[in-house]
Amino acid sequence: MEALINLTGKTHDEARQGEAYAPLSREAAVFQKRFYIESYGCAMNFADSEVVASILQSNGFGPTKDFEEADLIFLNTCSIREKAEATVRKRLTEFRKLKKQQPGILIGVLGCMAERLKEKFLQEEKLVDLVVGPDAYRSLPGLIEEAETGQKAVNVLLSRDETYADIAPIRLNSNGVNAFVSIMRGCNNMCSFCVVPFTRGRERSRDADSIVNECKDLFANGYREVTLLGQNVDSYHWIASHTVQSGQTGTVADNNQPVTFSMLLERVAQIHPDLRVRFSTSHPKDITDDVLYTIAKYDNICNYIHLPVQSGSSRVLQLMNRTYSREWYIAKVNRIRELIPDCGLSTDMITGFCTETEEDHQQSLSLMEFCKYDLAYMYFYSERPGTLAARRFEDDIPEPIKKRRLQEMVDLHRQHSLQSMQRDVGKRFKVLVEGTSRKSENELYGRNDQNKVVVFPKADLRKGEYVWVTINACTAGTLLGTPDHK
Ligand code: SAM
Ligand code: SF4
Ligand code: F3S
Repeated sequence: MEALINLTGKTHDEARQGEAYAPLSREAAVFQKRFYIESYGCAMNFADSEVVASILQSNGFGPTKDFEEADLIFLNTCSIREKAEATVRKRLTEFRKLKKQQPGILIGVLGCMAERLKEKFLQEEKLVDLVVGPDAYRSLPGLIEEAETGQKAVNVLLSRDETYADIAPIRLNSNGVNAFVSIMRGCNNMCSFCVVPFTRGRERSRDADSIVNECKDLFANGYREVTLLGQNVDSYHWIASHTVQSGQTGTVADNNQPVTFSMLLERVAQIHPDLRVRFSTSHPKDITDDVLYTIAKYDNICNYIHLPVQSGSSRVLQLMNRTYSREWYIAKVNRIRELIPDCGLSTDMITGFCTETEEDHQQSLSLMEFCKYDLAYMYFYSERPGTLAARRFEDDIPEPIKKRRLQEMVDLHRQHSLQSMQRDVGKRFKVLVEGTSRKSENELYGRNDQNKVVVFPKADLRKGEYVWVTINACTAGTLLGTPDHK
């Protein structure tokens, strides 16, 4: 079993695997054709599905959450681990049955698996009609037309500049409080285990003004939290440009003043003190003091950093091409704790990477002991075809060992996260109300600054409001408290 620990029950990607598209409104009924979209993988993929929905809706397709009444079925897929791909294949076999009954429906595969497998997908999965990579969503309307004539339609071209900056995403399954905002695409790092640089292409940053405007719109529409997304947000870098005066052509840099991630964070934080700002993912080699100072300066930038380490062994980190050592990482964590003392910290970990010894594994455990993460996403290594590791190293750790190490890690982390929860009992936190608790109609849930889920009696509070809650108990994944009176 591949472990996914998501104790706060929120924000990360695979916790929402396979989530389908909820209809936006009754107005959807006026559309002549309907699409259904299911998303897998990371938050960026979920954000992409919102861009796809926007493109489809402006081309006359209405949403449905019932795939049986859809004319178009899309799976926005993930390739990060073998298991992620297997899940999609299994889902496709279910759609195969539907297509037998209704041959007119079109099935499209979007996202990273489409990019990785390209035309091969059409040979492997005969029922698929469209294969569209992450940078080709603008061509969807044309591709759908092509597929409607009975041809197979493919566009997996990667782009150096596509950021979908001008497309207003349609918020899917939204609670009206939290939204993802994509600030960049692709990745220029070459972590040897990772397929993302191949499926998402080169890194590019989105126009800062379009990001700020999207966040302003969200706030104006009642949203109270934005999560700025990128595979490596700390390398965000945007140089403003403007069209030069008549008689000249092209664009020129405006004062050549680049916008860095800390500057962008600041601009988004300044939109309104009631707009909470989160971000993901930070790379230990790139996160700067400027970013930490900016987090410390603004109350509405959440004190929470997801800082994936992957391994606690410098030798393995080098093979992974992470470009930092165990010592460097520890120094970063110390710096975070120095500048933002109450900062929540989470990580990603991989067990059983090529050549990992028991000693390397013990170093991963001891690093976790040092960091005492509030949250950790842990996986055993899954070789991905075409990656540097697949080409250079043998996947030589037997699966039972990978899994045993993973289990040891999960057990250790469970202790840390419980301790972290217990430390909060007796404290008082500002919580953004996100909705009604799944367990009880009479309770609400929200998150505190450090991204921990807090459950408390409903009183007369509503979604999108802030409330101070005093914590009086906890479980491994949830803080339980009493809200202040309004
Ligand atoms: N860009 C982020 C970073 O650098 O940390 C995260 C990228 S990836 C979408 C999310 C996590 O999946 C990684 O941090 C890593 O722990 C895990 N992962 C990536 N490739 C993997 C592989 N081949 N096997 C197991 N886990 C993998
Ligand atoms: Fe993959 Fe590394 Fe890029 Fe993260 S930083 S997406 S792990 S290559
Ligand atoms: Fe994300 Fe999976 Fe692609 S994690 S970037 S959807 S490979």
